Formats: sequence, structure tokens, C-alpha cells
Amino acid sequence: MQINAQKNSLLLLITEITTLLICTWIAQTEAKVPALIVFGDSTVDSGNNNVLPTALKANFPPYGRDFMGSGKPTGRFSNGRVATDFYSEMYGLRPFVPAYLDPEYNIEDFAVGVCFASAGTGIDPATAGVLSVIPLWKQVELFEEYQARLAGYLGSEMAKQTISEGVYAISIGTNDFIENYFALATPRFLEFTPESYVEFLISLARDFIIQIYMLGARKIGFTGLSGMGCLPLERNRNPMWGRPCIEEYNKVAKEFNSKLQQMTDELCKALPDLQLRVAHLYDFFSNILQNPSLYGFEDAQYGCCGTGTFELGYLCNEYTPFTCTDASKYVFWDAVHPTEKTSRIVAEFLMNTTFSKFK
Ligand SMILES: *[C@@H]1O[C@H](CO)[C@@H](O)[C@H](O)[C@H]1NC(C)=O
Repeated sequence: MQINAQKNSLLLLITEITTLLICTWIAQTEAKVPALIVFGDSTVDSGNNNVLPTALKANFPPYGRDFMGSGKPTGRFSNGRVATDFYSEMYGLRPFVPAYLDPEYNIEDFAVGVCFASAGTGIDPATAGVLSVIPLWKQVELFEEYQARLAGYLGSEMAKQTISEGVYAISIGTNDFIENYFALATPRFLEFTPESYVEFLISLARDFIIQIYMLGARKIGFTGLSGMGCLPLERNRNPMWGRPCIEEYNKVAKEFNSKLQQMTDELCKALPDLQLRVAHLYDFFSNILQNPSLYGFEDAQYGCCGTGTFELGYLCNEYTPFTCTDASKYVFWDAVHPTEKTSRIVAEFLMNTTFSKFK
């Protein structure tokens, strides 16, 4: 009798411990974020441009050669995954975020994460026109369509919850300068000074945030610009002078970031429940460029693809000579975009500082 009672209480204890362990385990692994929703440009595009009539694509080798063990070129401007894929994985969601226009995926896939980004686009609608890609306003329209489809799939209550509890990652703005303003691709350089163009972009970014807020978004991380004057493509403008970074571009990026922070502070005061955060990338990325060996890189000046000075999109292809064999030694994959390894390090940093901070 007594032995049985002891046995029983021991059993109870074991059950309790097991339950405790299981609960802790669930609490640790449970995805607190129901979905990751992505807007932006080639830094986060996971394949939307594949179906567009644009010259700016990356759905052919060597793009994707290190992608998740498959080596599949997906349209990501990388040898592998991009930063938002890593956020998704770190949230305990899928290890990648599918592109909304990719015919291989449907609303079941998009229910835990979706990407509306389009390589070559900008905050300024004129920038998207340069290479015929998806303007930011159109990404918002696709988001509205997505919401209707999501309600059909999950029911309107669950869909609403996904929209309000989900995290939004916005990565955009570099192209407005390097593809549009400084490239003299549209009359913007005649209409604005660099300073007033920054203000123009920030006011458009503000309108965009208000639009998605009105559509239910609350937890929004807006990635600031990095030192775009240090992109291999830009450094190549002065090949005779040791390819220095273009300080004018870096200065504009800093100006953009400080105005973005200001706008963010104002909007957070004005809009109830809005958790808008700037993901500050500039200093961290500058540190990688200045101390590449600290992060295991051997080269921070040239892209892995081709000569690493101008190759990008179709100019970075299977037949491009001189492409490196080990992309993990390079900060840059092509003349503009980071390698998967860089994206992983950056994603970890921005997760630590910004994307894990949503309540
Ligand atoms: C992010 O935080 C983790 C845990 O504190 C740390 O180990 C890691 O080094 C951090 N990564 C970066 C890039 O800051």
C-alpha cells in the first residue's frame, strides 16, 4: 500500500516535471509572431520580379547557388537567402518568405509570411518606372488583395489577428538615390536638392506607413539606409583614385536615416498602438566594411560575381568570368547586393536591436 502510494506520488512528480518541461519548451519555440510581411526592393525581393517585364531579374545562375541546399535561383539578389528570410526563421516561422507573385505558392503559404517587394523599386513612384518594376503604392494594393484572400482562407477574425499581430519589414530607399536621383534617370535631380529630395521621400514614406496602419499593420520595422556610397558599383566611379567610397552618398544616407527617425517618433505619438521602429543599419554595416576580418570576410570592396565592380542582374550570369568560388569570404555578392553570409549577420543584428522588440 505504502509502496504504491510512494510510486504514485513519484509518478505524479514525474508527470508534473514533464508537463513543466513541455510547457517551457512550447513557450520557447512557439512563434509569437503569426506572420512576417515584407515590402521593399531587391534587398528583400524573394522573386516577384521573375514575372515582371523588367530587365532587373536574378532568377538564373549563379544567383541562388547556395540557396538552402538546393542551389536554386529564386530571383533573390543573393547567392542564398536575404535578411527577411532569416527574420522569418528567427521568429520560428518558415526559413524563407515566399514572393506574392510566385505561382508556386498560394494563400496557405502566404498565411505565415509574404513578400511584396520588387527589385529596383523605390519610395518615389518615379524610381519604379526606371526599370518597370512594382511601385510601393502597388505593393500596398497587393497587400489589400492579400488581406481579402487571407480572410477567405483563415476566416475574417483570424485574418485580422494575423494582420495586427504580424510583423512588417520595410526595406527601401537606396534605389531612389543610386538608380534615380544621382543616376539622373528622371527629372528629380532638377526638381530637388539632395536635402529636399530626402524630405520628399520621407513624406512619401510617412504616407505609406499611414496607409498600411489604416489597413491594420501595427508592428513595423523600417530599415534605414546603409552607406550606399560604399557599394562596389559606386566605388567604381573613381577607379583611378583607389575606388574610394562616395562620401556625398553616405552623407545623404545619414540625413535620410535621421529624418526617418524623426518621422517615426512623430507618427508613434500620433497613431494609437503603432509600434514603428527604425532598424539602424548604417553604423553596423560600416563596421563590417571597415573590419571585414572580424566577421570572417576577406573582401569588402568587390562583389563575388565577375570582377565585382559593375556586374548585377543579367550582367552577373553563368558565363561571367572571374566569379569567386567561396561567396562567404565576400561582403558583397554582386556589385550592389550582400552575400547570404552578410545578410545573416545583418539580420541577426537587426533582430537583436529592432525586430525582437515588438510587444
Ligand atoms: C545577437 O544576440 C545574440 C544573443 O545575445 C548574440 O549572441 C549575437 O552575437 C548577437 N548578434 C549580433 C550580430 O549582434
